[in-house]
Amino acid sequence: MTRHRTASRAPEALRETLAELRRLAALPLEHGRTLPSGAYTSPEMYGWEVERIFRREWLCVARADEIPRPGSYLRLDVLGAPLVITRDEEGELHALSRVCRHRFMDLLPPETAPEQGSLKRLTCPYHTWTYRLNGRYAGQLAGAPLMQRVEFDRAGCRLPAYRVEVWNGFVMLNLDPGAAPAAAGLRGLEPRLSGHGIADWVTVHTQTWEGVPANWKVAVENGSENYHHMGTHAATLDPVLPGRDTEVDNCDGRWFTMFTPLSDPGRGGAGTAGREGSGREPRPGMLIAGIFPQFVLAVLPDSAVGIRWLPTGPSTHDTRITAMVPPGVPDAPGFAEQLAGMRDQIARIQEEDLVAVRGVQRGLTSRPEPSDGRFSHLERPLWQFQRYLAERLL
Ligand code: FES
Ligand SMILES: [Fe+2]
Repeated sequence: MTRHRTASRAPEALRETLAELRRLAALPLEHGRTLPSGAYTSPEMYGWEVERIFRREWLCVARADEIPRPGSYLRLDVLGAPLVITRDEEGELHALSRVCRHRFMDLLPPETAPEQGSLKRLTCPYHTWTYRLNGRYAGQLAGAPLMQRVEFDRAGCRLPAYRVEVWNGFVMLNLDPGAAPAAAGLRGLEPRLSGHGIADWVTVHTQTWEGVPANWKVAVENGSENYHHMGTHAATLDPVLPGRDTEVDNCDGRWFTMFTPLSDPGRGGAGTAGREGSGREPRPGMLIAGIFPQFVLAVLPDSAVGIRWLPTGPSTHDTRITAMVPPGVPDAPGFAEQLAGMRDQIARIQEEDLVAVRGVQRGLTSRPEPSDGRFSHLERPLWQFQRYLAERLL
């Protein structure tokens, strides 16, 4: 791994875009503005981001309770790699390639296998080669029928495995075997979340939008500022969580936080999650915690929503939204109606966000003149994102 890290160089076609990134990332926030359109459209830029960011960074891919018990699995595709997350009998998670070692069949094809389920072993549906899922043998070939007449290294036949860790109840995946532990880059974020006990919250809903026609950074930037509440979400979020009241923290590096107080604290539900005001009383509101490159968590007094984006090409990505509630809440009377309301709300707000995300990508694809538009103080996380990108890409 280390070898190819030092050897790789940015493609020549990116020279101007990267020079502009260097220049923008060095500007103070008051002069900050968006990247040139090529940064959101060029295949070379995307390839460079995959190599320098997505193949090295911890990526939030799921909630650990989506793989709840020994034998549970969750199928997912990360940067074109078909993977499955499994839980062994000791409760440990494994991230395994889903590509059969015989003739490369998808071991859990979406046409026939559910996205989530339970398995004792992983059996290829093509010629029924079977792989173990237990402990240190996870991924090891267990059986291959009618292969006695050929020479064949059964013991050495196993599915490639990737690094996986759980952070605050989230499944973090890293394609780089040499990466430092996931928590290492997130220590400062820990105290800001710890009061909420997010690690124990229960996943109650997930929805995926595949093939969204926009560069992944357009979606991440949209999810990293509440400035757009007054436009995109004028009739939905803004009356409840006015974007203009957002307090953006002075963060740098891989994560950021911001807080939007509820316009009417009485609507905050029974929880007390929020932030201490000058009176030392927690104020109800929405805490946003973002982790670059592809995850944002929004914590409300009685629910939380995690959004993770995964690129699928230079101008497409998948979005997966997960809703969580504190333990015990799903057992309370009336939860079914509360959940139905949450699902509707999530879908509606995401549809509003998609109008913005697709609309921005259309603008970028038109190769607009470089813009004089500046970031608002509410867009500080976008300015920070450029600094993060510069650090990884230059
Ligand atoms: S491709 Fe999996 S058993 Fe043949
Ligand atoms: Fe939004």
